[in-house]
Amino acid sequence: MPLVTSTEMFKKAYEGGYAIGAFNVNNMEIVQGITEACKEEKAPVILQVSKGARAYANHTYLVKLVEAAVIECPEIPIVLHLDHGPDFETCKSCIDGGFTSVMIDASSKPFAENIEITKKVVEYAHDHGVVVEAELGTLAGVEDDVKVSAADSSYTRPEEVEEFVSKTGCDSLAIAIGTSHGAYKFTPDQCTRNEKGILVPPPLRFDVLEEVSKRLPGFPIVLHGSSSVPQEYVKMVNEHGGKMPDAVGIPEEQLRKAATLSVCKINIDSDLRLTMTGTIRQFFDEHPDKFDPREYLKPARANIKETVRHKLVDVLGCAGKA
Ligand code: G3H
Ligand code: 13P
Ligand code: ZN
Repeated sequence: MPLVTSTEMFKKAYEGGYAIGAFNVNNMEIVQGITEACKEEKAPVILQVSKGARAYANHTYLVKLVEAAVIECPEIPIVLHLDHGPDFETCKSCIDGGFTSVMIDASSKPFAENIEITKKVVEYAHDHGVVVEAELGTLAGVEDDVKVSAADSSYTRPEEVEEFVSKTGCDSLAIAIGTSHGAYKFTPDQCTRNEKGILVPPPLRFDVLEEVSKRLPGFPIVLHGSSSVPQEYVKMVNEHGGKMPDAVGIPEEQLRKAATLSVCKINIDSDLRLTMTGTIRQFFDEHPDKFDPREYLKPARANIKETVRHKLVDVLGCAGKA
């Protein structure tokens, strides 16, 4: 089937109590690792491209890689989505250039300005058969070149969501309930330590999610910053020359719970980066004489596939839903 929008996917996910995985893609091996897992697990998927990914790999290369995945995986629905579109022009360029979904992220702007920019993108997108994700509330962490400190982040205010959605006409809404971007989501002093000395982060604000859902019945909610930062890969990085002290993510049980509620899209990027980097570091440590990129990208791609498979089956609940 050709690229699809997320409309049908989200409807089924909402009703079925699961979430669609939205994985960031930057090169061929990442596209292949993700889509091979989705094909084998019969899972619908959102492949998303950031401004940074477009700058790195070039819009056309990324679109063509995703189109190749569509040809290779005809049995699963695939959405091509712009992640964190910073302005109308970037969204327009992706809408005109083959994407089926865009995010306009004006969450750092004042409420009225966020509405105004989002509405403009929605009007253009809907005229072209493309759906729009918007954001209310501010996540901590780094997206492209924008760095938001924990002190400047803020939870979504549930009392704003109805006005925002009705005035903008957006198709899904990303909210801030305590997730954040990157591999260092919490400082050690924000966490407690369990009996094994492992950092346990503070729980997500399910009260905010529930209040938002009550005000927007049936409306798909999106969680950004939802990598779990698997400790096996943090260990692999650290044992093979890397230095990632105290990297910590969102516990998978909490994401599973969010997926059974109104959260229909869960964004995962850092876990794939960590998988790829850990695998390549280990490879070089064990094979210092090797220099053929195919030899180290092959295990990296295979491990990305397994990381994604685990998310589909054990966290998102979307395996078998294609
Ligand atoms: O939210 C940000 C995503 O992880 C994309 O990261 O902007 O470095 O491509 P990037
Ligand atoms: P992570 O950094 O937690 O993987 O979040 C990715 C994301 O939200 C992409 O938009
Ligand atoms: Zn994000």
